[in-house]
Amino acid sequence: MELTRMSSLPTNGRWRLVLALSLAGGALALAGCGSREEAETAAKAAPTPSDLVAGQPEIHGTEIKTVEITHPLNPQWVATGVGIYEMKCLPCHKLTGDRLVGPGWAGVTKRRKPLWILNMITNVDVMLAKDEEAQKLLELCLVRMPNMNITPEEARSLLEYMRHNDGEK
Ligand code: HEC
Repeated sequence: MELTRMSSLPTNGRWRLVLALSLAGGALALAGCGSREEAETAAKAAPTPSDLVAGQPEIHGTEIKTVEITHPLNPQWVATGVGIYEMKCLPCHKLTGDRLVGPGWAGVTKRRKPLWILNMITNVDVMLAKDEEAQKLLELCLVRMPNMNITPEEARSLLEYMRHNDGEK
């Protein structure tokens, strides 16, 4: 898998750096695989009726419970989001639909609810333990997204940047 990824990437300097970072990130995430069994056991606990709100599975034990989505986009948050993306997310996430270590971000704000995205960013361990959609991604990507120590404010900026990446104005 690593080899295919390497040969399909452009080889200019910037991408070599990204690749090196992404391999390091992958190794880091793999080292965290020991806790996967634990996560799977936790995931088997059946949801109780209070976990369901109007047919939408609640995001369990989450830190962020409300979010305000504003139009137009907040340019300040978009700018902050780009900076955090380049420092902390780019090694594993492309802005296109292509998977690197994690899924590409194109369309992510269309397929996920804002609260789901915010909690995936700030509260990934609980999401991987309890949220079915997050678990499906783990099965697909085979590595756990690490806890990136992102504050709720930073996560909100990242969400704004994802909306920008999905063409919102
Ligand atoms: C070491 C690699 C790595 C880094 C760094 C990383 N992620 Fe992830 N991310 C993943 C993986 C892998 C998944 C899929 C879930 C899993 O397997 O744990 C994922 C999933 C996601 C998802 C869900 C995507 C979807 O299609 O539903 C979001 C949103 C996300 N990450 C945001 C972030 C943000 C924001 C950052 C930077 C602050 C970040 N990630 C940094 C590996 C990473």
